[in-house]
Amino acid sequence: MDKLLIRGGKPLNGTVTISGAKNAALPELCAALLTAEPVVLDNVPRLQDVQTMIKLLRNMGAGVEWQAEGSHRLVLNAGTVTSPEAPYELVKTMRASILALGPLLARFGEATVSLPGGCAIGSRPVDQHIKGLQAMGAEIRVEHGYILAKVNGRLKGARITTDMITVTGTENFLMAAALAEGETVLENAAQEPEVTDLAELLIKMGAKISGHGTSRIVIQGVDRLHAPVQPHPIVPDRIEAGTFLCAVAAAGGDVALVGSRADHLDAVIDKLREAGASINAINNQLRITMSTRPVAVGFRTSEYPAFPTDMQAQLMAVNCVAQGAAKISETIFENRFMHVNELVRLGAHIEVDGHTAVVTGVERLSGATVMATDLRASASLVIAGLCADGETVVDRIYHLDRGYEQMEAKLRGLGADIERIK
Ligand code: EPZ
Repeated sequence: MDKLLIRGGKPLNGTVTISGAKNAALPELCAALLTAEPVVLDNVPRLQDVQTMIKLLRNMGAGVEWQAEGSHRLVLNAGTVTSPEAPYELVKTMRASILALGPLLARFGEATVSLPGGCAIGSRPVDQHIKGLQAMGAEIRVEHGYILAKVNGRLKGARITTDMITVTGTENFLMAAALAEGETVLENAAQEPEVTDLAELLIKMGAKISGHGTSRIVIQGVDRLHAPVQPHPIVPDRIEAGTFLCAVAAAGGDVALVGSRADHLDAVIDKLREAGASINAINNQLRITMSTRPVAVGFRTSEYPAFPTDMQAQLMAVNCVAQGAAKISETIFENRFMHVNELVRLGAHIEVDGHTAVVTGVERLSGATVMATDLRASASLVIAGLCADGETVVDRIYHLDRGYEQMEAKLRGLGADIERIK
């Protein structure tokens, strides 16, 4: 099992290129199921979850090939799909497989998708996905751990209001509604940039969508979708960019992030400026400079455009070495403080009470062996290791590999002393 060995105390300097967004790539690979024509996506991040989604689509019979060795261009051909299924063996390793449900139903009229099951950060139910697709006319049974869905004829447009804002729920509904008969209105849609990027791909494929990026999205169903005329470039990963911003805020230095979108990171940039970082957006680059110890910043996670839950663990790591104390509230997931106990092993002072954590910063953390528990928790442990005295070993970094492309190589390129060991 791979580990990362980090020798802390070095500032980060230089330039790093931000990859395409994992959470846009996953729904957009599934969107290729909506047409028999080959769909070409650019700026696809080469990370574990994307490899898993490729395996899932190939398992259905789709052709999916990287254009060349090391390329970030992916060619998907769902004209050869023979079995609209997402089996447990694959779904259990990646919950986002649920994103196949909407497009399979819309194009093939049936889908057999394993229930994802929970994960480290929460029970992660998919009841809202099922409720919305049933509103569109799908007959759905859940048996033996599988969602068995079918529709006689075409899905019908519907007005959908979910019990809570759901990112992949919104994405499933967008893809299903694109080929449904009539109009679908999503009344409390997710506004994340990855949802907007999916909508823009669907529009390039012939879908009729308006309101994406707001809480109310309207889709007029069409009979068929086609491949986008040009390859669709996947939006940059705002969470990867935010992770690097937090790394510099904690370890100090001067770094330019190439390919990042400042307009997707307002809440994160505001908090890091409050912590004392200087951040400027120039063209498609974000430049962060941090020459002092950060000041503790309190925050609460919420849906986009507010502070993202996927950045909570990383900004907590910054607070661990900040001057003062800060209160952090996690409002989206019920168990997203798994990184706390590991940060405490590195010398952090953190008190958790339910969905709230109070972090009191210390001058220096002290290196130790720690264990990653989930994707963003592993990123926060890497950040903490970068500013800890001595050696930190982060174990179980397969969690990190799921959501970051060559994290340690990118950090080494910025001067970090970090290497992958067995
Ligand atoms: C997406 O997960 C992201 N994953 C997550 O990123 C992200 O943390 C999350 O959105 C919130 O922003 C992808 O896009 C692949 P939700 P998703 O449905 O769609 C509850 C990462 O680190 N809920 O918006 O699964 C749910 O339990 C990952 O990259 C239901 O109860 O999240 C949660 O409390 C982690 N029933 C809340 O809603 C449902 O049917 C928001 O979940 C659906 C959701």
